[in-house]
Amino acid sequence: MRKNNPRDNPFAEETIDLKHLEKILDEFKGQKGAIIPVLQRAQYVYGYLPKEVLQAISRKTRVPLTRLYGVATFYAQFRLARRGRHIIRVCDGTACHVRGAPQSIEAIGKAFQIEPGGTTPDYKYTLEIVYCIGSCGLAPMAVVNEKVHANIEPDKIVDELKKLD
Ligand code: FES
Repeated sequence: MRKNNPRDNPFAEETIDLKHLEKILDEFKGQKGAIIPVLQRAQYVYGYLPKEVLQAISRKTRVPLTRLYGVATFYAQFRLARRGRHIIRVCDGTACHVRGAPQSIEAIGKAFQIEPGGTTPDYKYTLEIVYCIGSCGLAPMAVVNEKVHANIEPDKIVDELKKLD
């Protein structure tokens, strides 16, 4: 098991407590074809699917690890890499693009040294680009965690993001 709390030391490896996985596996015990719900629940608990978790699922369910990786990489809903505490989604769909989304994406990238799709080394921020979130009238749009930001501007969105703890 890996130790340390990333909140205490942002550069530390996070703790993977497999105890939570036991409950999930108990719940689906004996159910054939439950790989996807097990992976979904595991991802919900851990935020992504760490190697240790996939190995433990494989051991307990006797589903080969390669098959678990196959499923996890096939479906876009699954993530194999750890993400930041704050998920920044900036829309770069057509309406947002023409109204300046690229400038905000660039400003966020510069401010936090982060590429689209990437996560800062301290796991504070993950930047994702999405394509239309259905609010084109308020473009350019961003969603930070669950909060919607309309008519974003480069400096303002960077300031908002800096306020996050
Ligand atoms: S293009 Fe961004 S919300 Fe539609």
